[in-house]
Amino acid sequence: MKKLAIITVTVFLSIKAASADPDNDSLIINDDIQLVTETAAPIHLENLDTIYSGWRFRTDETQALQVDDFDNPAMVFVDKAIDLFNTIDGIEGKACVSCHESVAQFRGLSAIMPKVIDGELVVLESFINDHRDQVMGAEPWKWSGEKMQSMVALIGLQSRGMPVNVKIDGEARPYWEQGKEMYYTRFGQLQLSCANCHEDNYGKMIRADHLSQGHANGFPTYRLKQAKLISRHNRFRGCIRDTRAETFAEGSDEFKALELYLASRSIGLTVETPAVRQ
Ligand code: HEC
Ligand code: HEC
Repeated sequence: MKKLAIITVTVFLSIKAASADPDNDSLIINDDIQLVTETAAPIHLENLDTIYSGWRFRTDETQALQVDDFDNPAMVFVDKAIDLFNTIDGIEGKACVSCHESVAQFRGLSAIMPKVIDGELVVLESFINDHRDQVMGAEPWKWSGEKMQSMVALIGLQSRGMPVNVKIDGEARPYWEQGKEMYYTRFGQLQLSCANCHEDNYGKMIRADHLSQGHANGFPTYRLKQAKLISRHNRFRGCIRDTRAETFAEGSDEFKALELYLASRSIGLTVETPAVRQ
């Protein structure tokens, strides 16, 4: 027990060692799309007055990569998804484009996902895979694989600049409650909840990282460290693993609920997909 307590204290000491607020930069993409990176927190958030996009916590160099699509390394994957959209796959001999004239028809969708369909909480990845199975007779894509995340990025890009506006009442309520409970649950040997880092300590340094509020409005994000698109659920796994806990599977009901709750914390920020992070 004593040893664990020391580890926890050490982590917190290193968190508290330095402190820096989000910067004051504003994010205008391609000199055209003005994103909301700071706004009043949604009413349901009891412990925060203002919410900030993770972009505001990144270095100037990392921020710059998201300001112009020519510099944004995620755009390579968006282009790959456009190819996938036009490619026939599955026993029905259809491509996405056979039924959907253009991805532009999905404008607005990512701003309101996840959502409940027929009583079940659906996130974009699960929707796409069920859909591939049912309407195309095609093999499912791996959750965090390149094809899936490229497609999620392409669909997300259609909503870039639109405010996150997920539904959290009605049928969505129990899923939202489940996600909220997870957010405040302390995990692992370090006994840290999402809130301990992203609500209580944002703005501070944890090792080399400037801690943000942990919003998911830029996902899938291109991570420079991994040189690829990272899914939301992959990020959740990484964060939970950092607390030295066993974690949930990508695509699990737990992570879907957490995704909904996290989206509700970002209501009022704009969709930034595909964002670039360290
Ligand atoms: C055989 C025709 C067909 C094909 C092929 C097809 N879709 Fe669909 N898709 C539909 C229909 C019909 C709907 C609306 C009903 C529904 O939600 O299932 C839809 C709905 C969607 C939606 C949800 C739109 C919304 O506003 O809720 C997305 C996203 C989507 N499709 C993506 C894709 C992608 C990506 C592909 C290729 C991997 C694809 N579709 C291939 C017929 C098709
Ligand atoms: C030990 C501290 C810690 C805990 C606990 C933690 N995270 Fe994180 N998280 C980080 C760090 C460090 C980063 C990278 C810097 C940043 O963006 O804040 C990060 C990044 C993120 C991001 C990406 C933000 C962006 O702008 O791209 C999301 C989303 C996220 N965390 C969600 C969660 C969720 C959900 C939980 C709880 C299951 C959680 N985190 C628990 C430390 C933590």
